[in-house]
Amino acid sequence: MSDQRILITGAAGIVGTLMRPRLARPGRILRLLDIAPLEPAAPGEQVEIVPGSVTDAEVLTRACADADAVIHLGGVSREDGWERILEVNIDGTHTVLEAARAAGVPRVILASSNHAVGFRRIGEAGPAGLPADSSARPDTYYGVSKAAVEALGSLYHSRFGMDVSCLRIGSCFERPVDVRQLSIWLSPQDCARLLEACLSTAEPGFRVLWGVSANTRAVVSQSEGERIGYHSRDDAEIFADQVPPGELPGYLGGAFCDIPLGQHNPL
Ligand SMILES: NC(=O)c1ccc[n+]([C@@H]2O[C@H](COP(=O)([O-])OP(=O)(O)OC[C@H]3O[C@@H](n4cnc5c(N)ncnc54)[C@H](O)[C@@H]3O)[C@@H](O)[C@H]2O)c1
Repeated sequence: MSDQRILITGAAGIVGTLMRPRLARPGRILRLLDIAPLEPAAPGEQVEIVPGSVTDAEVLTRACADADAVIHLGGVSREDGWERILEVNIDGTHTVLEAARAAGVPRVILASSNHAVGFRRIGEAGPAGLPADSSARPDTYYGVSKAAVEALGSLYHSRFGMDVSCLRIGSCFERPVDVRQLSIWLSPQDCARLLEACLSTAEPGFRVLWGVSANTRAVVSQSEGERIGYHSRDDAEIFADQVPPGELPGYLGGAFCDIPLGQHNPL
């Protein structure tokens, strides 16, 4: 059997860097794409580096050749001007999906965000938590782009039968840093578990899933992920005494609901 090849866009970013060692497996090649520099393959590491932009169709055509799956993380990961969000996140995702379709890649995982539904009230759906497929209530242009990413994924599933998972990631970092993140943290290990579940679903489908751990203070549903075999083993609560005291925001998107629209924001 030939090696499984997984293209990861935005591989030099926070999530990509956390996933690189965690998704490594015998018989699997990780093909890493980014506009930012990437560490060359370490001895024994099954990695291919593709420098370039998700907005470049030629780069994506090369990057998708012989790929079994795409994990699309690349793009603008916070609020920014409309033109940049449109070009990189929306046009860029279209370019990725189109190249994947043309190359016959059967499976794509798209990084969405809690900010696609940032203006949903925490607690609005009761104790079971906000369902993963709640309709879009974006809090920023960035959030709008993630809603568009999900819509593009839905289109490519319905038209071409591609298996598409959209992950509404909460906050995926080494550890949570504030009270809000105690509710929506996705541990790096759980992120890898979630991606493995998406990579091994049997039936081609389209699904929107929360990317969160089973946090004690959870505000979103776990059931959609569990249905495809994602079982979180982590809980942000172990970091609770290291987080400054504070209140949970009223809206899921937290501070993104108040930042100026369309301005580059370091948050
Ligand atoms: N980390 C989180 O908590 C979190 C939460 C919600 C959603 N997400 C989403 O997950 C994905 C990864 O997030 P992250 O935290 O690693 O973000 P990040 O900003 O650290 O990484 C994004 C990567 O994309 C690359 N990139 C930007 N423009 C590109 C282009 N035109 N072509 C190719 N690569 C490009 C950047 O160089 C960077 O390495 C993003 O799509 C983000 O919106 C992340």
